[in-house]
Amino acid sequence: MKWIEAANYEEMSKIAATIFKEQLKLVKTSVFGMATGSTPEGFYKELVKAYQAGELSFAEAKSFNLDEYIGIMPNNEASYHYFMDENLFNYIDMKRENIHVPTGNPKEIATATAEYDAAIAAAGGVDIQLLGIGVNGHIGFNEPGTAFELETNMVELTQSTREANQIYFDTIDDVPTHAITMGIRTIMNAKKVVLLISGASKQEAFDRLRSGEITTDFPASALHNHKDVTVIYTGVK
Ligand code: PGA
Repeated sequence: MKWIEAANYEEMSKIAATIFKEQLKLVKTSVFGMATGSTPEGFYKELVKAYQAGELSFAEAKSFNLDEYIGIMPNNEASYHYFMDENLFNYIDMKRENIHVPTGNPKEIATATAEYDAAIAAAGGVDIQLLGIGVNGHIGFNEPGTAFELETNMVELTQSTREANQIYFDTIDDVPTHAITMGIRTIMNAKKVVLLISGASKQEAFDRLRSGEITTDFPASALHNHKDVTVIYTGVK
């Protein structure tokens, strides 16, 4: 695991964006794993800026997002579909058919999980996966206790995750109880992983990851078994 300390949020975002930009310049048909949350917003701004400056094109690239809430439809501002459109996809030239965000439609869930892994495999696998980390160490929506062997699946969200994400909803009761997420196995299949950690609320998660202990109680610790992980952090020590 490679650790890069950034001076501030902007620098963290720029370092991460540079890694993705270099990948895209090298391989136009790159497959990106994307993440939502407040941490990667600056990263997406950097990608949009680079596209608008004519530095690169996503026309042949593909993307697969980590997760989505169950029961929250794409036109809902709290959905991860909406987040990705607003932060990235509406502003770059990636083709709609090449953009994949797991479905949050409860009626589709039964078949959607296996189909998602199959679609990733059919695309040749993820070249670089972007990740944030939850205060409880989750990656994607893989909450503590999740088996490392799982592929894309439906999960029940912990109370701490629902509370952390309440800012995107009116009340805690509006925060969904379930989500669809790439499993830890799916994430581990990515050829390269970039994990962003920003802000004091993540200090405990940062410390636990740094300790090197590998346990399902702390999902991000699975990444110690991956051979190409770069952690870019700021606001934690
Ligand atoms: P955040 O979410 O970037 O909004 O802190 C990260 C996560 O929960 O994975």
